[in-house]
Amino acid sequence: MQVSEITWDREGLAAAIACEDPAFEAALCEEAYRVKVATVGPEVYLRGLVEISNICVKNCFYCGIRHDIRCPRYELSDEAVLSAMQTAADRRFGSVVIQGGERTDAAFIRKITRLLKEIKQIDTGEDPPLGITLSLGEQPREVYEEWFDAGAHRYLLRIESSNPDLYRKIHPEDHSYDRRLQALYDLKEIGYQAGTGAMIGMPFQTAEDLADDLLFYQKFDAPMVGMGPYNPHPETPLTLSGAPYPSAERRFALGLKMIALLRLLMPDINIAAATSLEVLDPRGREMGLFSGANVFMPNLTPREQMVKYNLYDRKTALPDGPSSLADSLSGQGIVIGYGRWGDSKHGKSGLVM
Ligand code: 5AD
Ligand code: SF4
Repeated sequence: MQVSEITWDREGLAAAIACEDPAFEAALCEEAYRVKVATVGPEVYLRGLVEISNICVKNCFYCGIRHDIRCPRYELSDEAVLSAMQTAADRRFGSVVIQGGERTDAAFIRKITRLLKEIKQIDTGEDPPLGITLSLGEQPREVYEEWFDAGAHRYLLRIESSNPDLYRKIHPEDHSYDRRLQALYDLKEIGYQAGTGAMIGMPFQTAEDLADDLLFYQKFDAPMVGMGPYNPHPETPLTLSGAPYPSAERRFALGLKMIALLRLLMPDINIAAATSLEVLDPRGREMGLFSGANVFMPNLTPREQMVKYNLYDRKTALPDGPSSLADSLSGQGIVIGYGRWGDSKHGKSGLVM
């Protein structure tokens, strides 16, 4: 198969996803990188990632911090969060992400509101105040509004799979696909840049499902997407069920291929090089950037807590130190968008702060 032969409908995308020819996959990633540079430019935008808590009320069958798993839980103090945010400002990351398990208790909701207001006050020198993305699961619309008013302007909520049947297979009965979709539309209506994404290479997932995921991002008109390979966690129901899933090599290749296809399908959106690529290959996130991704999230969670944010086995992952990838990327033709929010250019014209 040649890149020029891809047709951009469900059938054509599924054929491209199913084609395992390494020459085709390499050519596709190269083409996506070319299109990325031509459309959104050579910059990669940084988001300092802080994993605020691994406490979660949900029980997704694939997740290593699901409610029913016995594991050490933590919640970062305000001081710890703000100190990580100060690091992001000092290193001129431009934006930050607060990610955590889903929690609906009032104390947590208030804590996020309080932190958002304080993060907006952090001194960034000549740069604009830090741009803030939240990734804290499904919340009542009023909570999304409260956080938006307090200064968050982007929100990541993965659909996990756009196929409602597959969604049902990988979640308990009380996790509703429709509720999740509603949350995504709430976010959009409130005014957030609403990002979504799905896991790649899961049990039961077909090439058509992955094609539908891409078409879902297009239909939702997502200004940003963060998607990455599924990585099994040894103690989750999905792993223990014994349901087969693609090899690590295949999941990695699929992860890169999905980034590349999405870049070609939606040239001007923001696409993140997900952490789960790194688990499969030490250069994974970097390869994501060379396959069309333009957002990189250096992990600023203190190491002691980061090892407990164990969505999947991530033995190789460590906090990104000052001399790590973010800095070394510049040596490879990638321009780091220091001190900039790096909002999606999708659906916008004019200057981006
Ligand atoms: N493999 C890959 N990604 C996972 N996530 C949760 N568990 C796994 C896993 N086993 C992802 C989900 C969720 C995000 C926070 O982490 O997509 O949205
Ligand atoms: Fe909770 Fe998210 Fe894990 Fe589901 S994937 S159990 S919502 S942290």
